[in-house]
Amino acid sequence: MTEQHGTIESHPLHQGEAAETFPPTPEFRAAANLQDSSVYWRAAQDPEAYWAERARDLRWTKPFTEVLDWSNPPFAKWFADGELNVAANCLDRHVAAGLGDRVAIHFEGEPGDTRSLTYAELTHEVKRAANMLTSLGVTAGDRVAIYMPMIPEAVIAMLAVVRLGAAHSVVFGGFSAESLRARIDDAEAELVITADGGYRKGRVSALKPTVDDALALHGGGSTVQNVLVVQRTDQGVEMQSGRDLWWHEEITAYDDQHEARGFPAENPLFILYTSGTTGKPKGILHTSGGYLTQVSATHRDVFDLKPETDVYWCTADVGWITGHSYVVYGPLANGATQVIYEGTPETPDWGRWWSIIQKYGVSIFYTAPTAIRACMKVGRQVPEQYDLSSIRVLGSVGEPINPEAWRWYREVIGAGTAPIVDTWWQTETGAIMISPLPGLTSLKPGSAQVPQPGIDVSIVNDAGERVDRGQGGLLTVRRPWPSMVRGIWGDPDRFVDTYWSKFGDQYFAGDGARVDDDGDIWLLGRVDDVMNVSGHRLSTAEIESALVEHHAVAESAVVGADDETTGQAVVAFVILKSQQQLLTPEEAEQELKKHVAAQIGAIARPRQVFVVTELPKTRSGKIMRRLLKDAAEGREIGDTTTLADTSVMQTISDRVRSEK
Ligand code: PRX
Repeated sequence: MTEQHGTIESHPLHQGEAAETFPPTPEFRAAANLQDSSVYWRAAQDPEAYWAERARDLRWTKPFTEVLDWSNPPFAKWFADGELNVAANCLDRHVAAGLGDRVAIHFEGEPGDTRSLTYAELTHEVKRAANMLTSLGVTAGDRVAIYMPMIPEAVIAMLAVVRLGAAHSVVFGGFSAESLRARIDDAEAELVITADGGYRKGRVSALKPTVDDALALHGGGSTVQNVLVVQRTDQGVEMQSGRDLWWHEEITAYDDQHEARGFPAENPLFILYTSGTTGKPKGILHTSGGYLTQVSATHRDVFDLKPETDVYWCTADVGWITGHSYVVYGPLANGATQVIYEGTPETPDWGRWWSIIQKYGVSIFYTAPTAIRACMKVGRQVPEQYDLSSIRVLGSVGEPINPEAWRWYREVIGAGTAPIVDTWWQTETGAIMISPLPGLTSLKPGSAQVPQPGIDVSIVNDAGERVDRGQGGLLTVRRPWPSMVRGIWGDPDRFVDTYWSKFGDQYFAGDGARVDDDGDIWLLGRVDDVMNVSGHRLSTAEIESALVEHHAVAESAVVGADDETTGQAVVAFVILKSQQQLLTPEEAEQELKKHVAAQIGAIARPRQVFVVTELPKTRSGKIMRRLLKDAAEGREIGDTTTLADTSVMQTISDRVRSEK
């Protein structure tokens, strides 16, 4: 049973069960980076002083004198008069400290090729790439789109861009040409960095042809001047003369003499698009000094990182915020040694992840509940064939982890002793906001538990008042935090509207949560029209608009239905145009699944598409998605009395049942 998307009432604690807790072992606590719980109290007394102290762990080319400027809420500025170079903090600083020979990245390609890069080597590569980008005209303030597989050049490209004071917009390699183009246009990117392809599930998955398709859309004119292509898979790709350049050919002209300039702390670092409640993805803007402060501090604290001895591995792709904060910026700012793996966990078989842990002696492992559930389904006999004794901390992110998966993760992967840090955060928060600290917190399976030191999270009622212990409500953040979203690219009104209009002075995260009697926080899923599929955010509105763009579709409604493996799955209900009744429902279903994948990307492909003749609507014409969700999840249909036609739901649920 998965209760992660259940209602507050169906929550186990609500039923009066006492949660079992797992305190840190005495050995873990004695060696932990944080052993003294007074850190919470000290940070709460003076959060700005706390964050200023953490910020001073970074190397500033011009020290800051101001900490927080909140004179124009909700637009925060942190450390605004300070200057730093984010890439130099992740690279040159460690080399200068004599750590150049430490491995930064152990890369494992899906076909089995490997490559290790020390901090000195990574710095060398990034400096050369920065020189190459400069000659292509990239300067401070520009935007560069990156559409890459999980290979070291993805990290090198990101760091080279930010070294120049420009901002990247990484687009996940699974997104379609349409989605890529919309992101390129919105950010007005002048350069796209891509690869011919990458390896996924034992096959070559093409990237450059998708870039070509994206740039050919809308009559071909775009802001893009050049496309820089990394050779990875060596399959033939077309190169458009005057526009497209091979990375490996260009780079030979550049040496590694490159001085990193400092840029203001509020200089844009990156834009990352994420789904909201409307059809148009939001370009979440992050800046430099505050972001790097919080990602590096949380990476060190939450994972109890010991950069000298740990081997860290986060399985996220750099196309998502987890890949930005906990593959690129947090670990590299902390001088960590990490593993980057290109492919999927089941290639060539389900032992792949565990063999990588064994091979590199991974000690900190960070992944998503959906992956843990998929491994559970395959069975513990697979990981049990490998030596996982190097593991000492496990992390979870992206959705609530159901207690059953938590227990399996701890027992089978963590030898029954490794602490699990269940980390709640968002693209918008930039860094971890709620999580146990492994040397201090007694863990509760299924709960993200405690706000990080210096972070002021509340669970509130609709009026914005804190709820009592034992109650549920909406999750908000009261005080600004260093890595907070600075705005939605090109749309300041939407930023205010989406996050600040509900409560005025509190950031509204869009999640429901409950505080238990000990004050621990339990996340209960989104309260808006955002779905969480395999830890990825998708908007119902975006998929609905892709469906109605299909010539056969008259109307559509999309819901996120509980799914045992992926947390939620996309279920679509469509009404076909009358002249399309010649398509059988089965044909329409197949065709529309393909259509959504082509329009948005494979992650948005519906699990099911139901062709129906009517949708449940209120008398004022609003679609009642709640009832469709009941039907998709096979539940009794809720209250239908407000429907204009109460018989509609009966027909729809009969239709859904006939599929089962
Ligand atoms: O609903 C929450 C869920 O993921 C959403 C944020 O999605 P995204 O911006 O794509 O970032 C995902 C990776 C940080 C949140 O609003 N979420 C994320 N982590 C957790 C979670 N829900 C419960 N528990 C978590 N640990």
